Amino acid sequence: MTYETLLVEVADGVGVITLNRPKAMNALNQTLTRELGEAVDALEADQAIGCIVLTGGDQVFAAGADIKEMKDLSFHDLYVSDFPRIQRDCWRAIDEARTPVVAAVAGFALGGGCELALACDFIVATDSAKFGQPEIGIGTMPGAGGTQRLTKAVGKAKAMDMCLTGRMMDAEEAERAGLVSQIVSADALLDTVRKVAKKIASHSRPAVMMIKESVDLAVDADLQDGLLFERRNFAATFAFEDCKEGMNAFAEKRKPVFKHR
Ligand code: HXC
Repeated sequence: MTYETLLVEVADGVGVITLNRPKAMNALNQTLTRELGEAVDALEADQAIGCIVLTGGDQVFAAGADIKEMKDLSFHDLYVSDFPRIQRDCWRAIDEARTPVVAAVAGFALGGGCELALACDFIVATDSAKFGQPEIGIGTMPGAGGTQRLTKAVGKAKAMDMCLTGRMMDAEEAERAGLVSQIVSADALLDTVRKVAKKIASHSRPAVMMIKESVDLAVDADLQDGLLFERRNFAATFAFEDCKEGMNAFAEKRKPVFKHR
């Protein structure tokens, strides 16, 4: 499949989606947003893909929704289309993907760009990364999860500070706050994230899915509900051939050969 605003490559069980509107700092216009939802759905449906990487390349992740495209829309337009529906569908595609999605962020991840990274399962960033919700500066507010996912990720104080002042968080602060899983140098970003993704894709697929579901539940559920869900999922992994293979391989001092990857 070819796209106007994305590059998609598949290798070693990993699908890499690169946002590709460099002249507009990968601003998320309607075409890009629609294509991104479609690309995530297509990789998710491909049983050979065990992990998806979402990146904007080594200069910029995304500078937010396309302000030039949005500026003349009315409240009526946004309300009736549920701003715009394709935007919701794109985030939902990422949110509901059972295949892990890793964001590789260099440079600006602002507004909808920050929200897009937040919708992924985790974020690896370069030291040049800058996260922010600057919508207040153009008289509006985050509209795709910034007030919600950012608050769950970094806590109320930092989320309020960022959304109300529009200030950016650099990579170091983002790592300290738990927004980013690791910082790598700019020239190592894509190689590192490809390796991380390849590692995830090499594991038993059903076990990966159960871990993802369980960690996701921790974000929203009450602790006791989450612990019960985790315990039940843990027990259920014992029904997988891959689990028997993994444990037998350990006992026999050899590498496991997983069937379901
Ligand atoms: C449209 C954008 C854009 C955007 C950058 N560009 N961000 N176009 N929408 N969000 C375009 C610029 O117009 C310019 O095009 C080119 O990209 C380079 O940008 P510059 O501003 O010249 O670069 P620089 O001086 O380096 O500043 C980079 C920047 C700044 C700090 C990222 O561009 C900026 O503040 N952008 C807007 C950030 C923002 O407010 N994001 C939130 C959007 S609202 P030309 O043609 O002039 O060269 C939002 C709501 C989400 O995201 C709601 C749900 C999805």
